[in-house]
Amino acid sequence: MKLPVTRYYGSKRRVVEKIWDALAEHHIEFNTMLDLFGGTGIVSYYMAKSGKTVVYNDILSFNCEIAKALLQSPKGVFSEAQALRLLQREPNREYQTIIEDYFDDIYYPRDENRIIDTVVQNITYLDEAEKSSAYYVLFQSCIIKRPFNIFHRKNLNLRTGFTEANFGNKTTWEQSFESLFVKFTRELNEFQFVELPHVEVTNMSALHCNRDADLVYIDTPYFSEKRSAAITYHNRYHFLEGLMHYENIPNQINQVKVNKEIRFGENPEFEKRNHYLEDLNTLLNRHQQSIIALSYTSAGFPSIEELCNVMRQYKNHVLICNLGNHSFALNRNNTDRQEVLIIGL
Ligand SMILES: C[S@@+](CC[C@H](N)C(=O)[O-])C[C@H]1O[C@@H](n2cnc3c(N)ncnc32)[C@H](O)[C@@H]1O
Repeated sequence: MKLPVTRYYGSKRRVVEKIWDALAEHHIEFNTMLDLFGGTGIVSYYMAKSGKTVVYNDILSFNCEIAKALLQSPKGVFSEAQALRLLQREPNREYQTIIEDYFDDIYYPRDENRIIDTVVQNITYLDEAEKSSAYYVLFQSCIIKRPFNIFHRKNLNLRTGFTEANFGNKTTWEQSFESLFVKFTRELNEFQFVELPHVEVTNMSALHCNRDADLVYIDTPYFSEKRSAAITYHNRYHFLEGLMHYENIPNQINQVKVNKEIRFGENPEFEKRNHYLEDLNTLLNRHQQSIIALSYTSAGFPSIEELCNVMRQYKNHVLICNLGNHSFALNRNNTDRQEVLIIGL
């Protein structure tokens, strides 16, 4: 199946087909799927394309907009002309300059900060049906322009102080917002559904999501085996989450952090190593009536064996499917890492 490109930490884009095959191989039958840690929405997208009824959930609301654009907005609802119009300041509107004022020299050069200010405020004037697509195009453009595609450091200097050695990246980062808006609007239109599938999008912590489904897919943040300080999803993507709350960004900037992290969307559940097993137990207990499919990595904490032991507390049959070596698109160093799917029946 052709899938949209994702530049997201832990995206299952390269594994989703194998997840599907593993479920088929074990004759797992389901009509409804709950994707509790939906991220890019690629797993939900694959399932919806395959005719399943889907509930997508993620704690970060910017991810939910990406999912709504792909899954709940019909093809053709958002055009290249509309995308390009978002880049212009309307003469009769007053614009705030929050990104320009507070994020100088942090993530983007000043002229791009101004563009981000403009687009976010123009989006608020769009019809509901178009908003998610517009956010999709803005977020994908913001991500592709960032070194490593994330926001956990103030490192604009990597982009501005380039050398020959990373010239390839430089070309990517310096693409204009205009060309990126056209590129991502085209891409979105290529992948959006003509006839919308049965999809609900929810935005809460997985522990509070009260939806049910035949199959519950769990793809939590991963911890490495080593006890290094974990970078959370919030650390990586706070800037995009902040854009979802544009007017209130100034009150939510963590001034202690050099990279001016924005606090919206911070949540410790599944992001704290010493609490992870307790959170997972609560979640599996809650969904023990469903088939559970849990993605994890062999090079992670807890070990696959420990995770299977947790699963066995709630399910009678536990299958371990090795999906092969798929180092993260954003972390190619991890060559020994195996993707594993633990199925509880
Ligand atoms: C490994 S990624 C999921 C990737 C996704 N399967 C994909 O293919 O794009 C983990 C996701 O969990 C989300 N997350 C973190 N803590 C969460 C929580 N308590 N509840 C729900 N989602 C959470 C993060 O925002 C992130 O998108």
